[in-house]
Amino acid sequence: MIEYLGKFHPLIVHLPIGFLVLLGLFEWLALRPGGRRLRVANRLILLFTIPAALSSVLLGWFMAINPHYEARTLFWHRWLGTLAGVAVLLLWIIRQRGWFTAYRRSLFVTLILLGVAGHFGGSLTHGSGFLSWPKKRLPAAAPVSSEVLLAQPVYSTFIQPLFNDYCISCHGETKSKGGLRLDNAEQVLKGGDSGSLFAPAEGAQTLIGWHINLPEGDEDHMPPDGKPQPSSAQLAVLNWWLKSNRQTQPVTLRELEPGPEILQAIRASIAANPK
Ligand code: HEC
Repeated sequence: MIEYLGKFHPLIVHLPIGFLVLLGLFEWLALRPGGRRLRVANRLILLFTIPAALSSVLLGWFMAINPHYEARTLFWHRWLGTLAGVAVLLLWIIRQRGWFTAYRRSLFVTLILLGVAGHFGGSLTHGSGFLSWPKKRLPAAAPVSSEVLLAQPVYSTFIQPLFNDYCISCHGETKSKGGLRLDNAEQVLKGGDSGSLFAPAEGAQTLIGWHINLPEGDEDHMPPDGKPQPSSAQLAVLNWWLKSNRQTQPVTLRELEPGPEILQAIRASIAANPK
């Protein structure tokens, strides 16, 4: 129940943020000629901010009870966010005392604090790659010759990019749902909460094979329903790679002797663009 309430944190948290930004703006306006009238309104905004901020902090703690987030980012977001909640209370006290200069300075500091805490929060929900450039991939514009293709290491050239495109938003450095990271070979070998990805699961599948081959409506299907899905060619490449059982070993495509169908699927897989 408490964890369920925690799900409302990302929604509710925008309320005190909105109030505080508005307050910053109004306090600035209140300093201008004729702005004194705003003081009553500002007092009221600050009063509303207190319960909004404190409940956001509380829900944030609920949400982090069972964290699937990168620990360092969560640490900073949790404590800077809590600090911002406490700062709102202090703002109220300072303002009630009539220390307006100290109050305005503290408000400015609180807004900066909020920006930094919010940045870490954004990294938790969107992943740290949210604002970074797309990863490099094999140039797909010109048709790649079979010679070039066959000389490529299978895992790093054909498999890791699929994980990058379809999985690491939830299984990466920032978020590791199910305790699983797929952002590099080492993590892929490590597996998730249920152990090795390559351990046998239902229907003569590996654990990862089971998740990706379930029908899309199934709740255990990966990527989850509604998220960008690999094309059928990409899925065929993944399954062919799993069947080879060479995992993340640096074997070339030639060594795995792909048939013409797989070669074609690999070409289509490289050409496909996610989203
Ligand atoms: C939108 C988020 C999201 C995306 C994208 C996603 N997953 Fe997941 N995945 C999850 C969640 C959430 C769980 C954990 C479910 C649980 O713990 O009950 C999970 C669990 C798993 C597990 C089980 C881990 C374990 O040890 O129990 C595997 C395997 C997996 N995902 C593979 C993948 C693969 C492969 C992709 C990309 C093709 C992918 N996932 C994309 C959200 C995602």
